[in-house]
Amino acid sequence: MSAITVLIADDIAATREDIKRLLYFEEDITIIGEAGDGDEAVIMSDSLKPDVILMDVNMPRVDGIKASEMITVKNPESSIIIISIQGEQEYLRKAMAAGARDYLVKPFSSSELAETIRKVSDYSRKRRLRLVEGGGPTPAAPSREPGKIITLFSSKGGVGKTTTACNLAISIVQRARKKVALVDMDLQGGDVSVFLNISAKGGVSDVVQESDYSDPSLLETYLCPHMSGIRVLPAPGSPEQAELVAASHAEGILKALKDSYDYIIVDTAAAINEITLVCLEMSDQILVLLNQELPSLRHARVNMEILEKLGLTFKSRLILNRYRNDGLKLKDLEKNINSSINATLPDDGETVSMSINKGQPFVMTRPSAEITSQLGNLASSLTPEQTRAAKGPDGAEETPRKSLIGKIFSF
Ligand SMILES: Nc1ncnc2c1ncn2[C@@H]1O[C@H](COP(=O)(O)OP(=O)(O)OP(=O)(O)O)[C@@H](O)[C@H]1O
Ligand SMILES: [Mg+2]
Repeated sequence: MSAITVLIADDIAATREDIKRLLYFEEDITIIGEAGDGDEAVIMSDSLKPDVILMDVNMPRVDGIKASEMITVKNPESSIIIISIQGEQEYLRKAMAAGARDYLVKPFSSSELAETIRKVSDYSRKRRLRLVEGGGPTPAAPSREPGKIITLFSSKGGVGKTTTACNLAISIVQRARKKVALVDMDLQGGDVSVFLNISAKGGVSDVVQESDYSDPSLLETYLCPHMSGIRVLPAPGSPEQAELVAASHAEGILKALKDSYDYIIVDTAAAINEITLVCLEMSDQILVLLNQELPSLRHARVNMEILEKLGLTFKSRLILNRYRNDGLKLKDLEKNINSSINATLPDDGETVSMSINKGQPFVMTRPSAEITSQLGNLASSLTPEQTRAAKGPDGAEETPRKSLIGKIFSF
């Protein structure tokens, strides 16, 4: 196959040199031009027809977003990758809307850059092929192991699902340097974006309005980058928007994310509804959260019974959050709920509240806190590459979802 041709558009010559240096050893990628502003990028893309354009956001005369918009109309065969710096999240969304295919936040490694170039160019080749053949959407053909879905679950509110989901996702990135997506499937009341101080809202409900919503490349444009390195699909911005999301949408989104991410962490509502059930069914691991208070114990017992009826116990783990070693014996608690506790996270009101109020996850700001270390242990235990796929204990595929609600109520 011929080399992927690349045009670099950046007004700073030193940055262009850096990019050329990063790509120097990539034999399948050739730089065919350099533009010093958006205007030049538009003209050069027209004459050179590059496969990929690496586009800076802030440039004199015509900026990267306007240039992306013009190139997408004039020369849609060229795929644009936006190169931005931290804190330009607002621009990124605009750039994606303007037709950019992907983005990279500086600083990035040569392998990250090369992989992104290959990914977008591969997608655009497939898209062209699709157009030539007049076919429908290309089924995403993952070239690697499908990602693992880890869902936080409890029918009891306020037990720490969102706190754990956000910090766990980041802890996995910190440890494993894997691609991690965090999806807020608490459609009515999700607050992942508040916990992470992300201004964007509505990712889940916005993307399902696209007919092609389960196309991994399209879905990617709705994920918001977080400074930790994870990407986030936020919950709908209002209850009306939440209504637009069906269980089949949730299924399509998670399936698509498995093609492009190594780990997909899913936060859910404190409710056993169709959306939560889809998430549970599609998960490779289910983390059932509880704390030491009586109502939470009762919910945990019922939740484990439900998971058993659904045939999902084999991939479920109980996580005791807000654990205080104040005389309570774990054995007594386990007897009460009739299941074993797999991990504990300490009660640390000061660290957790401050992290939520500031929108700064404690695994980033409090590296030496006990809760950070326990979360790290949990992350490590969930991320060995041999994590079992979503199959039954005997290796059989799981039962179809349509009977899940029926199964719960058939005892
Ligand atoms: N380990 C912890 N130590 C102290 N406080 C905690 C801990 N984990 C969570 N909390 C507190 O519990 C409250 C609820 O946490 P969180 O929002 O994560 O729960 P949730 O299960 O997602 O709730 P909901 O079901 O309403 O979405 C938060 O205010 C947080 O400060
Ligand atoms: Mg929550």
